[in-house]
Amino acid sequence: MKLESILQCPECRSSLKKNKESYRCKNKHNFIFFENIPDFISKEDKKVLEKEFHAQEHAVGNYKENEAYMLSWKNWKKKLIVDKKGLVLDNGCGPGKLSLVIPEGNTIVGSDVSLDMLREAKKRINFVIRSMAEKLPFKNETFDVVYTDSMLHHLKNPIEGVKEVHRVLKKDGIAVFSETHAALVNGKLRRYAYKNRAKFSEWHKNFEKEELLSIIAPYFEIYSIEHVSYLGYMYEGTNRKIPCDKYLMKAFLIFDEIISKIPLIKNQSWHIIVKGVKK
Ligand SMILES: C[S@@+](CC[C@H](N)C(=O)[O-])C[C@H]1O[C@@H](n2cnc3c(N)ncnc32)[C@H](O)[C@@H]1O
Ligand SMILES: [Zn+2]
Repeated sequence: MKLESILQCPECRSSLKKNKESYRCKNKHNFIFFENIPDFISKEDKKVLEKEFHAQEHAVGNYKENEAYMLSWKNWKKKLIVDKKGLVLDNGCGPGKLSLVIPEGNTIVGSDVSLDMLREAKKRINFVIRSMAEKLPFKNETFDVVYTDSMLHHLKNPIEGVKEVHRVLKKDGIAVFSETHAALVNGKLRRYAYKNRAKFSEWHKNFEKEELLSIIAPYFEIYSIEHVSYLGYMYEGTNRKIPCDKYLMKAFLIFDEIISKIPLIKNQSWHIIVKGVKK
């Protein structure tokens, strides 16, 4: 696939021409490459995103790959994956690790605002671009599946991100949103864990379930809502300071499997995965 075949100007939506070092539209919007990554974020938007860039520069080191961490990580990330194959957007791809669980037979495009994250993503994904989820530089009805994993809650207006997913999905395309979840127990624990970290934008938050569903449901026919991540995820988090032990992790994951079947208690999950078909 040629990337330019699916791109359009994110500012005026007209088509783009590729020059040696940039993409340019007829209205003279020019998007240059940084380290071979096309950058579709305007100067004005970059100013607004300053805090986010800084926080992600620090967060990129949190993505570990030791055995115990990956056991938990793969355990819940696999639950995001849908059977439908084709052209897939990893929207807010971070370091591009979702590609480790997306099966062969898909072409993955990764998009994120953070250059630090995209440098990592480039090692795993063929096509990566720098763009905002609220202003995707893709033509209408381009993708078969869009994964938006733990990103919507970073947006000032998450609904703008949901509308863009709807626009770039093909008819019958599938949207998967995995979001952090504000429940009674984890809300307090999460605040404690975030205490000494670089601050994200002032609008960064965690969704309550009803709020998340209320912004997705107008655009997608929701067919699956799943609560995921309990003790394994918490233990994953401790790995930032001390590498976690795989036997303890295995025990936590067995325990998590049991929790996920207990009514009410299962609602105390750290994440929710919502899947829907484009309306
Ligand atoms: C919690 S990380 C999740 C990364 C990845 N999806 C994962 O689950 O491993 C949130 C990501 O959203 C990106 N992000 C923040 N604001 C964004 C925006 N306006 N548009 C696109 N991506 C954004 C960040 O740079 C970061 O990589
Ligand atoms: Zn333009």
